[in-house]
Amino acid sequence: MAEFVEIVEMGPRDGLQNEKRIIPTAEKIALVDLLSRAGFRGIEVASFVSPKWVPQMADSAEVLAGIARAPGVRYAALTPNMKGYEGARAAKADEVAIFASASEGFSKANLNATIAESLDRFRPVAEAAQADGIPVRGYVSVVTDCPYDGPVAPGAVARVTAALRDMGCHEVSLGDTIGQGRPETVDKMLTAVLGEMPAERLAGHYHDTAGRALANIEASLARGLRVFDAAVGGLGGCPYAPGAKGNVATEAVAGRLAELGYDTGLDAALLAEAAALARAMRG
Ligand code: HMG
Ligand code: MG
Repeated sequence: MAEFVEIVEMGPRDGLQNEKRIIPTAEKIALVDLLSRAGFRGIEVASFVSPKWVPQMADSAEVLAGIARAPGVRYAALTPNMKGYEGARAAKADEVAIFASASEGFSKANLNATIAESLDRFRPVAEAAQADGIPVRGYVSVVTDCPYDGPVAPGAVARVTAALRDMGCHEVSLGDTIGQGRPETVDKMLTAVLGEMPAERLAGHYHDTAGRALANIEASLARGLRVFDAAVGGLGGCPYAPGAKGNVATEAVAGRLAELGYDTGLDAALLAEAAALARAMRG
């Protein structure tokens, strides 16, 4: 039997957060409902961040309230602080995510905090989620290259990964936020990170700005990673990462993984339908 590789769908959150046109809540719900039928185990649908920072995500509670939850699918939300956590818990997110940076420049731009300050804000979020029985996922951004500080040292990624592990994150997703990683830099970064966390608890989250995300996924598969984040239609970008293009497209990752002999459990026809819908939602 083919080995399973999980794709975590990012389209409704990482994909849409950067769109200039404020997308009506009903359109977001329609996209999530379509994705819910495609076979994902996890879909990131919401982000309880400041609406002044990311206006597109201001209706996250309404999106979580409006979707038809499919059995066996985790609906996740980003939570930068306790205020965000309270919102996500009230909206019944199945999983929350705390998101740190491996560089000081990106941490300041994305969270208005140093790395250490951001970790101090995440700690009570992780504690509260554990007390409430809500799984916590961690992200590390700019794992190879930062738009403000340049190349990022693998050791810095390993240190932030270890901090998120110590807070109880069940999985840490490694973000090539601006899509400038190469198989060689991803491999070096993973060598450092694997000293802190086993491959079974890591995910690759690669943006496709330079067209190397699939190659970076293959480099990560070789190091034992079996979870990858992607967005249907290649939607996305981060508002605080100039030049960041979309996440790698889910349908492209699913296609490449199938060629490599892996099973993703995803329905290719529904993915194509969702990708078309996602592209149509673009401003
Ligand atoms: P700040 O301005 O320093 O926060 O922002 P503050 O604590 O001083 O609060 C300022 C105002 O925001 C207050 O309102 C707060 O109530 C409000 P006011 O009194 O002015 O009316 N506020 C909130 N409102 C709603 N929900 C909240 C919240 N917190 C405060 N949770 C803050 C600090 C962290 C809030 C801000 O920097 C922020 O929201 N940042 C998030 C930026 C973001 O969402 N970036 C994109 C997601 S990360 C990403 O895409 C990368 C990833 O995909 C991985 C990768 O690719 O690398 C995950
Ligand atoms: Mg991202």
